[in-house]
Amino acid sequence: MSEPSAFLLSPQPRARWMRLDTAQLLKRFFFCERSLLVSESAWIPAIAPLDIKIGMARFIWQSAETAHALRNRVFELRFPSRLLEEQGADHALIELFGAVKDSPSVPAFLLSIGKVLLPALRDSYREYLEASDSIADGPTHRFLSLALSEKEEQIGAFERWAESSLSSNPELRESSVAWTKAVADQLSQVGGVGVGPSPSAPDAGPLPGSRPYVVPDRPARDPRFWPCRFYWPDVVDPAYPYGEGMQLQLRSAISHVNEVWAIEAGGVMLSAFADVLPWEWIHNAARWTYDESRHCRMGYERLMAWGLDPAEIPLGTYIYESASGQDPIYRLGMLYFFETKNIKHKPARAQLFHAYGDAVSEHDMDFDWADETMHAGYGKHWLKELLAVRGEDRAAYDQVRERCEKLVRDYVGTATAQEVADIKKAAALLITAARK
Ligand SMILES: [Fe+2]
Ligand SMILES: [Fe+2]
Repeated sequence: MSEPSAFLLSPQPRARWMRLDTAQLLKRFFFCERSLLVSESAWIPAIAPLDIKIGMARFIWQSAETAHALRNRVFELRFPSRLLEEQGADHALIELFGAVKDSPSVPAFLLSIGKVLLPALRDSYREYLEASDSIADGPTHRFLSLALSEKEEQIGAFERWAESSLSSNPELRESSVAWTKAVADQLSQVGGVGVGPSPSAPDAGPLPGSRPYVVPDRPARDPRFWPCRFYWPDVVDPAYPYGEGMQLQLRSAISHVNEVWAIEAGGVMLSAFADVLPWEWIHNAARWTYDESRHCRMGYERLMAWGLDPAEIPLGTYIYESASGQDPIYRLGMLYFFETKNIKHKPARAQLFHAYGDAVSEHDMDFDWADETMHAGYGKHWLKELLAVRGEDRAAYDQVRERCEKLVRDYVGTATAQEVADIKKAAALLITAARK
């Protein structure tokens, strides 16, 4: 018979992790989500299908919200804030999550995230929720349960996207599968994500087959649409009217779907300044990118509801390309420039749509206006912060805006007579199709 204890002891699993053990795990999850979303952001311009660009922007925002909640929770647990800025013993793992940014191709990128990184996070969140104490750690349970369900959805989407990307590029199947295996092997070599103590694994080095990421000069475009640089005649011909009535309804939807450039600019700038600006930058830029993807989708959905054929819808590249080859501060500057330039027209247009009885255009424009008001604030704030971090004058943010205006003007100046004629023809065709 065992000796009776002098203390009250009970076999309850609640105390498996103490406060600081919990904070260590949540910190690991934070860095994984952060690295993953930065890689995803960087890839938005390289991926052609519009539904993937839009869907990925939403997942980036979900990851940023989860990471934000994780980070706040780690602070609540009184984890030394100095240590929260450091990856610590999880360094090799976090590096691997960042290494998919150097994927060799679009399908390789999609497949390695969908088959390896996201399932690893999903399994770890599930284990965490099963093994942690829902009393002491109740606040984590709420947001991590949501994150777990979002991971399930993300895995399904990435698997579908990878498969469609592979079926249009069958020659990349072998290399994509090999890349995905290399990511999986390295993940197990560094100890996986999991809920165990940090293995303090040494950095595994570059993945075989990796290709250093570069920001694409030209954005990939969905081949279902009519490809062009300048997506409506008024961009290249100031005499061409913005229009009223049906032409305004159409023009506004064309603007919205062409905000695809803003999703891309959001992704590029998020990743370019992820290690330069504080966490709040990533959190704001992820929301910004997601908002632009919603504006793009608003336009797409309206055009589809009017029965128009994507092959007749111009999808342009000029705003993205105006900032190519420049300091990435001009990606941020472009968003700020276009938002502050257009915001004043939005309430009046929403009212016109109301007068036409076009409730959906009115609704979209009004929600868009609220988002853009928030974005104008983001733009000014982060341009100033970025200039300050670079040791430059914070007040020069307006010069960045002016330079963006010039970059766009110069780029528009490269439009050829043929391009001007072509977009006029395309616009006329679309207007005719809309009248039917
Ligand atoms: Fe927008
Ligand atoms: Fe915006």
